[in-house]
Amino acid sequence: MQTDEVKALLQKVIYPQLDRDILSLGAIGDIAIANKSITIKLLLNNEKVYRSIEDQIIDILSLHFDKIEVVFQAKQTPSTAYGTTAKPNNRAAYAKNVIAVTSGKGGVGKSTVAVNLSIALAQKGYKVGLLDADVYGPNTPRMLQVAHEKLQWNDNNKIIPSQNFGIKVMSVGLTTPTPDTPLVWRSSVAISALIQFLEDVDWGELDFLVIDMPPGTGDIQLTMAQELPISAGVIVTTPQKVATDDVSRAVMMFKDIKVPIGGIVENMSYFIAPDTLKRYDIFGTGGGEAIATQYGVPLLGKVPLLMEIRSSSDEGKPAVAMCSEEIKAYYQTITNNLLYEMGLF
Ligand SMILES: Nc1ncnc2c1ncn2[C@@H]1O[C@H](COP(=O)(O)OP(=O)(O)OP(=O)(O)O)[C@@H](O)[C@H]1O
Ligand SMILES: [Mg+2]
Repeated sequence: MQTDEVKALLQKVIYPQLDRDILSLGAIGDIAIANKSITIKLLLNNEKVYRSIEDQIIDILSLHFDKIEVVFQAKQTPSTAYGTTAKPNNRAAYAKNVIAVTSGKGGVGKSTVAVNLSIALAQKGYKVGLLDADVYGPNTPRMLQVAHEKLQWNDNNKIIPSQNFGIKVMSVGLTTPTPDTPLVWRSSVAISALIQFLEDVDWGELDFLVIDMPPGTGDIQLTMAQELPISAGVIVTTPQKVATDDVSRAVMMFKDIKVPIGGIVENMSYFIAPDTLKRYDIFGTGGGEAIATQYGVPLLGKVPLLMEIRSSSDEGKPAVAMCSEEIKAYYQTITNNLLYEMGLF
């Protein structure tokens, strides 16, 4: 008997005093089948209910299996207590790895990198979710061409994330009447919204949860580091002196809050004139290398300033999915280098 057939049978088991079956209530955890034996994990809060459900399950499955084991596993209830950076909560236990894309300064290309990194990971076969933590300036919905979509809930009262280019995405931009509706929220409200996105979105199992951070080193960055075990921070910078000063703040913040730094991406690194193919180092050269050496963190890659990246991004055609092979390669290299730094490649 296959897992799906077992699940179909489990739909007949009704939770005591509720008119709902245990499957739709999300009370069934892992199911392991080996020949004529089966082990089912029951995710419940109440041990008494477990006894009654265990009996019902054994009744229903005894025709099909010789050995039936029903294991009680306390259901994890979301904690309302905030964590600390030294001992963060894990509000995204469904994600194997959490990557935070950040920068000290605004407008350097974080969202573009976060979107293309997410898609490049999905292109490698990983399951990827992108959480837009930029509550005040969410632009991942437009970049992924899902800005017109409205929020929807599934039967388990979980928010269904939007999907495109092989990744799932959730953003405050999907909750407002129009993508450009400004949010006038205190940071505590913004943080509650993000925590809800972590806990109440039906992400499914993810290999990577990528977080597109707002610019700077503020409340939201700190909260994310307290509420999630971030596996790698990616810092985006442009090569100007100011941007590199800002990036050193981002590096120091990650070090202070104990987030492992995956590396630095130097964006808008140089410009190649489309007519003459001459290279111009508009913002100077070597900013990314200098900062990487100074802080002993890897330089994951450089992306030139290209009109095509800007225009495709604005049209909701992410570069790593829709541009030329040459342009895709910039983001693929960054992704491979990050996987290498994370010990996954
Ligand atoms: N390599 C690039 N070449 C050309 N344009 C780029 C490049 N990277 C990003 N851009 C463009 O620069 C603008 C800012 O990029 P993006 O929104 O990704 O930055 P950000 O750091 O997320 O900004 P914010 O701080 O506002 O969230 C966008 O219009 C984007 O299309
Ligand atoms: Mg952004």
